[in-house]
Amino acid sequence: MKKFKIGEEEKLIDVAKFLISNSNKDKNIISMSGDLGAGKTALSKKIASALKIKSEITSPTFTIIKEYTTQDKTFKHLYHFDVYRIKDTSELDNIGFFEYLYKDNSLCLIEWGDKIRDLLPDEKTIDVKIEIEGNVRNIEIGGI
Ligand SMILES: Nc1ncnc2c1ncn2[C@@H]1O[C@H](COP(=O)(O)OP(=O)(O)O)[C@@H](O)[C@H]1O
Ligand SMILES: [Mg+2]
Repeated sequence: MKKFKIGEEEKLIDVAKFLISNSNKDKNIISMSGDLGAGKTALSKKIASALKIKSEITSPTFTIIKEYTTQDKTFKHLYHFDVYRIKDTSELDNIGFFEYLYKDNSLCLIEWGDKIRDLLPDEKTIDVKIEIEGNVRNIEIGGI
């Protein structure tokens, strides 16, 4: 378990780098939990910038998934999910969610991962819990 206390948003880059350096081709799922506004998308943007993704990252709230190509050697693809609106496993099946988790050279970022946590393979998953405490974000990372 690793903990970060983040005061300013820019410092999320440290968390992003930590997550990338603790990920690999077998441990390639990052499940993020935290209330609305906790910073799941903000952290996703930092991860994207650490992977040298050129296009802008926007929240996949309405599309469930957005795909990006990176300039990184280990992870060529980033799949960014927001499963907040998922009510049924069949909705995940319909977008091929479970296939994405096993694609080669890919990193999967899942906002609201706690909602479907029991459907994610433990051995592949890093858990990121973000809590707001006044002006700071307490970030706990497990599964590393
Ligand atoms: N230390 C911080 N970490 C993350 N977000 C922060 C921080 N400080 C301020 N923010 C702001 O909080 C908001 C987080 O929103 P967002 O990332 O969309 O949350 P979520 O995706 O968890 O709903 C953004 O407007 C961001 O600019
Ligand atoms: Mg978000």
